[in-house]
Parts: sequence; C-alpha cells; structure tokens
Amino acid sequence: MKVTLITGASSGIGEAFARRLAGEKHDLVLVARNEKKLHELCDELMLEHKIMAHYVPLDLTRLDADAVLFAETEKHRFEVDWLINNAGFGSYGDFAKLDRDHEIGMIDLNIRTLVALTHRYLPGMRARKAGKVINVSSAAGFQPIPFMSTYAATKAFVNSFSEAIAEENRPFGIQVLALCPGSTKTNFHAAARMDRVIQVKGQETAEQVVETAMRAIKAGRTRVVSGTVNWLVATAVNFVPNALITRAMARGLRGKYQEDQ
Ligand SMILES: NC(=O)c1ccc[n+]([C@@H]2O[C@H](COP(=O)([O-])OP(=O)(O)OC[C@H]3O[C@@H](n4cnc5c(N)ncnc54)[C@H](OP(=O)(O)O)[C@@H]3O)[C@@H](O)[C@H]2O)c1
Repeated sequence: MKVTLITGASSGIGEAFARRLAGEKHDLVLVARNEKKLHELCDELMLEHKIMAHYVPLDLTRLDADAVLFAETEKHRFEVDWLINNAGFGSYGDFAKLDRDHEIGMIDLNIRTLVALTHRYLPGMRARKAGKVINVSSAAGFQPIPFMSTYAATKAFVNSFSEAIAEENRPFGIQVLALCPGSTKTNFHAAARMDRVIQVKGQETAEQVVETAMRAIKAGRTRVVSGTVNWLVATAVNFVPNALITRAMARGLRGKYQEDQ
C-alpha cells in the first residue's frame, strides 16, 4: 500500500500536513513521541476521510530511529510514496551556556534522522520511478543567527542537502522540496523556550505553510519560502554580507537575551 509518512505529525505543521493530505485521500503513517495525540488524530482522520492512518510513537533523536521506522513500514508492506521530514525543534540562547545534550539532540533530529530517513526511502521511490520528499526547513536557514546558532545551522544544512538531492533524483521522477516557513503559529516557540524572549508579529498559520508547500509541489519547485515578507527577507539577505547581518542581529537579540537571564 502506498503511504505518506509524516514525522512530527502530533502538532503544528506536521498535523496540518496530515489533515490536508487525509482530505486528499492519502493513506498516512504518522510519527512523533506523543502517542495519545497520534492515536486520536489517526482515529479522527480515518473516520472523517475513510483513509488508512497508522501511527508510530517514536523518539526520532534515537540513533536507531530510522532503522526502527523503516522496519515498521517494511513489516506492514507500506510503500512510502511521500516522505515529509517535518519533526524538528529549536533553541534560543548563548550557545556556550545552552544544554549540550539538547543542542546535539537537535542536530540528531533536524539533520541526522532527516538524512537517514531520506536515504532509507529513496531506493523504493527510485524503483517505482515516483515519489515526493518534503524537508521542512526554515527561513532561519538563509543566514547565521546569533543566539539561535545551532538551529539556524541545522536548517542551512537542510536547505543545501535538499536542493542537491533534488537534482540527483529528478531523473528518477522524484521531487524533493525544501519548505522554508518563517515564524508560524505552532508549539515550536514554546518548545524552544523562545516565547518569553521574542514577540513575533505577523506569524503564518500551519495551514498557510502547508498550502504553500502544496502549491510548490504542483509547480515542481525544489525550494519555497512561505509568506511574502519571509520571502523578501530571505531574498534580501543574499545581498548583505553575513558579518553585517550577524552583528545587527546580535545587537538586537543580546539585549533581550540578557534581560531574560
Ligand atoms: N513554527 C515555526 O515558527 C517554524 C518556522 C520555521 C520552521 N519550522 C519547522 O517546522 C517543523 C515543525 O515544527 P512546528 O512549528 O510544527 O512545531 P511543533 O508544533 O512544536 O511540532 C513539532 C513536531 O515535531 C515532533 N517532535 C519533536 N521532537 C521530536 C522527537 N524527538 N521525536 C519525534 N518527534 C518529535 C513533535 O511531536 P512530539 O512532541 O509528540 O514528539 C511535533 O509533532 C520543524 O522542523 C521546525 O523547525 C517551524
């Protein structure tokens, strides 16, 4: 059975993808740690849309997470036709003072598991000469960001990696998209303990981000920034040296960060 596998489907952008694609009759495999939330969401989507929805409660920072998930989809003979690498988290603060395990866990989730899952599922897509990989990156990946240093760097990796493998896999009928949201109304900021520090105005909804992704998929794009203002900023930073950007950002954020101590 062909399925769409979505990581981080228990809330935010991942949940919005699950709801949208269930409405378009995709059968789903949903992954996150919150088993209760996944169970309830699968029950709801199966009832409402008459689709199959399977859930896998799993901590994707685990070093064997890709192997565990691949074994599960193989066991059920699921053919992963769309892979949506969405699970991710951020952190905010002075890098030297941040929790080391938390920073490394972020790299494990935002980069290592994303790469490993993509590598696991590409061969099947190539054999079938079809497939979509949506890697949820961020507008934060377009420039280094002081006080969000690890997070912004993980998303720079996701942008670079996704655009490169998009070209490698184009001849096999596979589309790879780096989806770059700006600030979006989800649990992300609370999870990163950022909500007390940065008051974000003009956030998009998770549904708007998913709409952007679906339009980009239809248009055959390999990278898309969600939201006009986010796109303008992401484009403008190409014309400014990183040293200027990081100094200006650090000036603004250092004050806020120090107030937060
Ligand atoms: N919101 C924004 O402003 C924004 C902007 C740009 C990019 N993004 C990106 O969008 C993606 C989705 O984030 P979101 O905004 O929708 O935030 P969210 O509401 O916090 O959702 C994050 C999802 O990832 C899952 N997750 C977190 N850690 C996990 C782990 N160790 N193992 C398995 N699943 C895990 C969470 O589920 P459990 O807690 O149940 O595990 C949840 O389903 C992330 O990659 C984020 O970097 C977000």
